[in-house]
Amino acid sequence: MIEKINKILSEVQEFNPKDIQEIEVFRIEYLSKKGKISALFDEFRNLDAEQKREVGVKINILKQTATEKLNQLKEQLFVDNTGKVDIDLTRPSEAIKLGARHPLSVVHNQIIEIFTKLGFSVSDGPEIEDDNHNFALLNFPEHHPARDMQDTFFISEDMNVLLRTHTSSVQAHEMTEQKPPIRSLSPGRVYRNEAISARAHCLFHQVEGLYIDKNVSFADLKQTLEIFAKEMFGEHTKIRLRPSYFPFTEPSAEVDVSCSLCGGKGCTVCKYTGWLEILGCGMVDPNVLEASGINSKIWSGFAFGMGIERITMLKYGIKDLRLFFENDIRFLNQFISAI
Ligand code: DAH
Repeated sequence: MIEKINKILSEVQEFNPKDIQEIEVFRIEYLSKKGKISALFDEFRNLDAEQKREVGVKINILKQTATEKLNQLKEQLFVDNTGKVDIDLTRPSEAIKLGARHPLSVVHNQIIEIFTKLGFSVSDGPEIEDDNHNFALLNFPEHHPARDMQDTFFISEDMNVLLRTHTSSVQAHEMTEQKPPIRSLSPGRVYRNEAISARAHCLFHQVEGLYIDKNVSFADLKQTLEIFAKEMFGEHTKIRLRPSYFPFTEPSAEVDVSCSLCGGKGCTVCKYTGWLEILGCGMVDPNVLEASGINSKIWSGFAFGMGIERITMLKYGIKDLRLFFENDIRFLNQFISAI
């Protein structure tokens, strides 16, 4: 038996692994419950007392040697990885972890893709605005209560410079700075002085659409929004328009889509109505066209505006708006497959 122990001891001492797999094979072969050293202990039990004394010491030395060798090899491999000792260049590299696009970017890109197919081009406007573009040109008369619809962050004392409260301000830029026909889509950040909660934030994102041409009708608006809703929420999605009020459109409407989570049957998200409000829209008020120097006898148009957070929440069943701004990777990782 002593001979056997010596043989195993020299195997252990000579062991020279090429990689981590071989170390694992070594561990199993020598140190696991069914390994060679355990087997020696089983044999040891049947020896008489005299033999036990001699053999016991040897087996213990063997076990200790093997354990130390294993630990040393593992440690050495760690050192190798840090590049201090020699590096195993044949070792496969670790997979690079992929990041995920922010869900708001995913939906932002989808919205743009849908409307680009319909001939809209993307335009941009300033986030720090003047009263004129955010309100006056859009038919919000001074001191008109409609200005209270949106709690504004003013920057200048005279309340002329402000953080835009909606992307409709880009409409005012488009109409004053370009000649019709215009077909533009303006995504961007907007700001409102609101208490932060699961449903409201002081910063969020909107997309504005504006289409001005000859003979643009309400039917064109409805058709455009129907295509959008089906592309965004699925081909079985229905839309409905409810009369509403916005200073810059006449007539104005709010658009609901059939709830994509329950298929219109009623659930907690749609509050058992089967419908979800997704945007505001209307025909550009002739006053707005004229204020920007566009002849309303020749040109007509429609506009619409939607919140990207809202669309994203409805699409993915997200219940708290604040999740978008926390950058918790447990939340963000769920969108890895969403493009
Ligand atoms: N600007 C509106 C808001 O922030 C949304 C909106 C409604 C935009 C109707 C439009 C529109 O272009 O026609 O609540």
